[in-house]
Amino acid sequence: MSNKYLLDYIERRKQELNAVILAHFYQPPEIQDVADIVGDSLQLARQAAETDAQVIVFCGVHFMAESAKILSPDKTVLLPELQAGCPMADMVTADKLREMKQQYPDAAVVCYVNTSAEVKAECDISCTSSNAVNVVKSIPADQPIIFVPDRNLGAYIQGQTGRQMILWEGCCPIHDQLTRLEIEDLKKQHPEALIVVHPEVPPEVADIADAVRSTAGILKYVQNSPAQEFIIGTEEGFLHTLQKNCPDKTFYLGRKEFICPDMKLINLQSLADSMEKMQYQIEVPEPIRSKARIALDRMLAIAP
Ligand code: 13P
Ligand code: SF4
Repeated sequence: MSNKYLLDYIERRKQELNAVILAHFYQPPEIQDVADIVGDSLQLARQAAETDAQVIVFCGVHFMAESAKILSPDKTVLLPELQAGCPMADMVTADKLREMKQQYPDAAVVCYVNTSAEVKAECDISCTSSNAVNVVKSIPADQPIIFVPDRNLGAYIQGQTGRQMILWEGCCPIHDQLTRLEIEDLKKQHPEALIVVHPEVPPEVADIADAVRSTAGILKYVQNSPAQEFIIGTEEGFLHTLQKNCPDKTFYLGRKEFICPDMKLINLQSLADSMEKMQYQIEVPEPIRSKARIALDRMLAIAP
């Protein structure tokens, strides 16, 4: 089916359903362009909590759609591709986390939003890369902190706050592959370029960056910077957003194949199918949902 036909159908169906289409910055360009709101995980969680729409079509990965359902249980939340997961989120389970909590009974438990509802239900507060530092600062200074599942984001927060944290051994298999050598090579080729990376990259890469930010933070940084060239250490889909918002600036992707395959599973056809067949509906059983909601509500109360 032609893209024009699919785009017309998606628009028509959106009105019929009273739906809103949310898309993460890593989604393919045609999905970002058809979405009502494109954002980072924090912005999208806020939108999901606040929208008046009856149906939320979430173009992202499973934990994002699940967070939308936790926050808006009365809405229908659709994830167009059920296989779209996050390998990092799968690196921690509720059972394993409960074992760790027994080892450190006095610790506060902070989870990255890239976790399942079951894991969130075991945590005191959630965070995204936008607000992680402020979330950790909100915890009493003398209380130990367990942080799951991203050891790279955890190490970055430790560096920013000076807090000692018990870090889970997880990481994003996409961001964790970025090497210092790759960034140094690019810097040699483009000496005027500023290096801006996501906190999921390894600490030795974050150490040489001019700025470490969430995706929304990178966009803001680039927009406000007088520099013209940037080396970007995050997933390639984000370059679409950067180029759209800053057409006069030049961006160099940190590595050639900087792709999250899960983020690329959704396309115009699967989005149209999802809206036609009302698939795949995300459900989160009680009492997991209510417990997970506490962690997300506490997070949303804290500024980025
Ligand atoms: P953001 O919070 O920056 O949107 O990142 C989400 C994510 O999955 C990064 O890999
Ligand atoms: Fe998960 Fe990494 Fe993909 Fe983000 S980029 S969704 S953390 S696998």
